[in-house]
Amino acid sequence: MAKLGVNIDHIATIRQARGTRYPDPVTAATIAENAGADQITIHLREDRRHIQDADLRILRKTVRTLLNLEMAAEEEIADIAISVSPNICTLVPERRLELTTEGGLDVAKTFDKLRHYIDKLKDNSITVSLFIDPDIAQVEASKEIGADTVELHTGKYSEFASGDDRQLAELERLRKSAKKAKELGLYVAAGHGLNYINAALVVSQVPEIVEYNIGHSIVARAVFVGLEQAVMEMKQIVGR
Ligand code: PXP
Repeated sequence: MAKLGVNIDHIATIRQARGTRYPDPVTAATIAENAGADQITIHLREDRRHIQDADLRILRKTVRTLLNLEMAAEEEIADIAISVSPNICTLVPERRLELTTEGGLDVAKTFDKLRHYIDKLKDNSITVSLFIDPDIAQVEASKEIGADTVELHTGKYSEFASGDDRQLAELERLRKSAKKAKELGLYVAAGHGLNYINAALVVSQVPEIVEYNIGHSIVARAVFVGLEQAVMEMKQIVGR
C-alpha cells in the first residue's frame, strides 16, 4: 500500500493572496493527518510565495507523521532546513517566474552543487530525496550522488487525458524509472499534477512507487467536500 504525502502549500497560497491569518496550514496539516495522510509536504520557496518560515517551525512541532520539506539547493534554505530538521528534504529545481515546479533536477549536470547540499543535509541526519524527471540517466545519477529517495515528476504524465497515447508513453517512462530506482535500492516516490482521475492508473501500474505527494487536486476538492473528505478519498486511491 503506497503512502500519501499531502502537500499543503495551496492552503498557504490562499492565505497569502489576502495577507490574512487564515486559512492556517498548521490546522490543515492536523486535519490531513487525522484523515489518514502519512506525511505532510511543504515547499519553502525562496520568494516565500506560500509557506512562510514560521509555518515550517510550527509544523515541525505539530506534525505527528513525517514532515517533508521541498527546497531549492540554496545555502539560505539549507541552513533553515538544518535548524528545523524536517524528516525529509526533497531538493527541487526552482525558478522565480514559474507557476509551479515545472521540471525535475538535472542531477548529472549539477552534480557537484547537489552533492554539497546532499552531504550537508545527510550529515544532519536528514533523509534526502531528489525530484527528477522519469529518466533512467537521472535515476542512475541520483544513486551515484548518494540520494536516499527519488521523487519522480508526474507533471508530464498529468498533462495528458486518460487513454491518450502520450499519457501511456509517460506511464511507461514512470514504470521503467521506478523499476530501475528500486533495483538500485532507492526509495521511490512520485508526484505533481496527480488528481482523482489520473492517479489510479499510476498506482495500479507502477507498484515500485511507494509514496505519492499530492497537493493541488486535494485542496481543490476540499473546497467542495472539505479537507478531511478530500484526503480520505485520495488516500483510498493511493492505498489501493
Ligand atoms: N512533489 C513535488 C516535489 C512538488 O514540487 C509538488 C508541487 O509543489 C508536488 C509534489 C505536489 O504537486 P501538486 O500540487 O500538483 O499535487
